[in-house]
Amino acid sequence: MQPHLKRAFTLLALVIIAFILVRSLVVPESFGQYGWYRGASVNELRDLPVNYAGSTSCGEENCHQIIYSVWVKDRHKTVNCETCHGPAEKHVLNARETLTPANDTREYCGKCHSKRIARPELFPQIDPETHGQDLRCVYCHNPHKPWFV
Ligand code: HEC
Ligand code: HEC
Ligand code: HEC
Repeated sequence: MQPHLKRAFTLLALVIIAFILVRSLVVPESFGQYGWYRGASVNELRDLPVNYAGSTSCGEENCHQIIYSVWVKDRHKTVNCETCHGPAEKHVLNARETLTPANDTREYCGKCHSKRIARPELFPQIDPETHGQDLRCVYCHNPHKPWFV
């Protein structure tokens, strides 16, 4: 074999060996156990604490049945209780673990309802500068049944 080819092949072999070595060092052990990801991540995710209980556990199955029955028939039915009230799993398991009151500022409702050019035209939007004077939105709108108090 020509000496320059020999050198090229040796270099290629070294590169391949280095690649295998580095790969065996940096690829996590459980990678590929189930697929193109770390198998151990499945257990890590399963061990994360549960924070959200879901709207049915607030109302249908538990204490706030009247609010739930109003909410579930109205326009905010696509906005879950915990979107406004925060994660409630602890509160559902133990009613003494009270939740901080829902954010009732104009800014909070405005996160979804302020007029933005990027929002679909059919989505109900208002100009917070002029709409409802400076009053809190819930002064006029019931958050569980936004048409009306
Ligand atoms: C769009 C946001 C929003 C959603 C969705 C929402 N809430 Fe509320 N909720 C509020 C706000 C804001 C207040 C405070 C109202 C006020 O200050 O008049 C409140 C008040 C309450 C209160 C205490 C006052 C009362 O009326 O007795 C309870 C209990 C409650 N919500 C339960 C629920 C439940 C259960 C759901 C889901 C079925 C839900 N909320 C969905 C925003 C929301
Ligand atoms: C997470 C987003 C979100 C938040 C926060 C939110 N809304 Fe809504 N709102 C919605 C959605 C979604 C609808 C239903 C739109 C539809 O049916 O097309 C809606 C509908 C409404 C409507 C009915 C408009 C109509 O034309 O029927 C009013 C009024 C309203 N919201 C007021 C409020 C007020 C007041 C607050 C604060 C207490 C609030 N919203 C907070 C998402 C939100
Ligand atoms: C003084 C009472 C009052 C206050 C405060 C108020 N609104 Fe309204 N809102 C109304 C009335 C009345 C209408 C229906 C007529 C109109 O569209 O202006 C309405 C309509 C809406 C609509 C429907 C708009 C549409 O075109 O479908 C949304 C969304 C809304 N309000 C959200 C809010 C939000 C968010 C706040 C707080 C930033 C707020 N409102 C504060 C009285 C109020």
